[in-house]
Amino acid sequence: MLSRFSALDGLLRHTQPLWQVQPFHHLRLPWWQTHPALCEALAALALPDLQALEQDEAARAALLWPLVPEASELAALCHLPRLPSTLPPPAPAHVPGRKWSQIWAFAQQLGLAAGRGPGHLLEWCAGKGHLGRLLARQGHSVVSLEWDAELCLAARQLSTGLPQQAVQQDVMAAEATGWLAGARQAVALHACGDLHRHLIRQGAAQQVASLSLAPCCYHKHAHEHYQPLSQAAQASGLPLNRRLLQLPLQETVTAGARVRRLRWQELSWRLTFDALQRDLRGENSYLPLPSIAKGLLVGDLTAFIDWAAQTKGLILPAPLDLAPYQQQAQERLAQVLRMELVLGLFRRPVELWLVLDYALYLEEQGYVVSLGEFCERPLTPRNLLLQAHRRADSEAGGR
Ligand SMILES: C[S@@+](CC[C@H](N)C(=O)[O-])C[C@H]1O[C@@H](n2cnc3c(N)ncnc32)[C@H](O)[C@@H]1O
Repeated sequence: MLSRFSALDGLLRHTQPLWQVQPFHHLRLPWWQTHPALCEALAALALPDLQALEQDEAARAALLWPLVPEASELAALCHLPRLPSTLPPPAPAHVPGRKWSQIWAFAQQLGLAAGRGPGHLLEWCAGKGHLGRLLARQGHSVVSLEWDAELCLAARQLSTGLPQQAVQQDVMAAEATGWLAGARQAVALHACGDLHRHLIRQGAAQQVASLSLAPCCYHKHAHEHYQPLSQAAQASGLPLNRRLLQLPLQETVTAGARVRRLRWQELSWRLTFDALQRDLRGENSYLPLPSIAKGLLVGDLTAFIDWAAQTKGLILPAPLDLAPYQQQAQERLAQVLRMELVLGLFRRPVELWLVLDYALYLEEQGYVVSLGEFCERPLTPRNLLLQAHRRADSEAGGR
């Protein structure tokens, strides 16, 4: 773990200027000085080429690896074992198909023997408790913690007759520690950011025998500047802020054609507003907009521009001809996609850097840790599974 982390850390620190850029802030590619050949190759790509490349991993690698010398090594460092699992049976009622396949694959990795050992299994940030319910059906006594009252109620209704207790509980509150103290294993499928980091810290403090988690949304609830858990990551000093913690999530591997089209449209509308606002304010700098209600995206550009101007307190001229701004936006959309192509090389490495930070921390706390991919990425790109077993327990042959 440590040598993989050190290698990844060194490469990420060295390549920071390539992946810490914010595409919307740049009118031209920001790497002409340092990577002229890369910029030339990117500049030669037209919008349809760029859109096609988003879906073609092999073509992206063929184009970019020769131009970014660190890229192939980063990809090799990110290669983790794909953990074997069988195909899921048909999804039960009330569980969406994709979620069911994730749960099935995740549960197969837990190494649980039915009814074995004292204490309960603790499901952390359970939602409707679908994972816990599958484990309860396998004979385990499960406590599912979730703070949303409606989700808890649904979990209770769905688990009638099963050894699953759905508890309405804020996992960040002190009382959650009590549930951890009595657990023989804690499982967390897609608990966000600080929620999974809290599980790691508190689970280790409570000496929970096993922890199994598939992290997601690394940026959620985090401090503005990432606070590493492990000594190695603290010593690294790689500056990660909340924006950069989102990098692993900004990819489109699971997106269908419609979602991709809407994303390009949103980018193009935002860039239209950006061109307009630079003109209206007479200031050549980016003005960030908040995320927008999806409903606005199925409307028309004018409604979006009205909303954006109102949000930023700008008065729109009347009449307003958007055509020249749309033209600029099309050119900039290509430029943004060019930069995103390069950022794409670093999404998984940044994610793995974070997960290795968790793994190293748990090793420091006396756990034996393994990492792998519990399902294929199209099923969920958040497919990393960290499993940790307390050293004394694993040395005694138990889990
Ligand atoms: C991404 S969902 C994952 C749900 C479930 N594990 C799954 O995979 O379907 C994260 C869940 O965490 C819950 N949550 C968020 N903050 C929480 C907190 N402080 N305490 C307990 N649950 C929380 C949310 O309500 C949501 O159900």
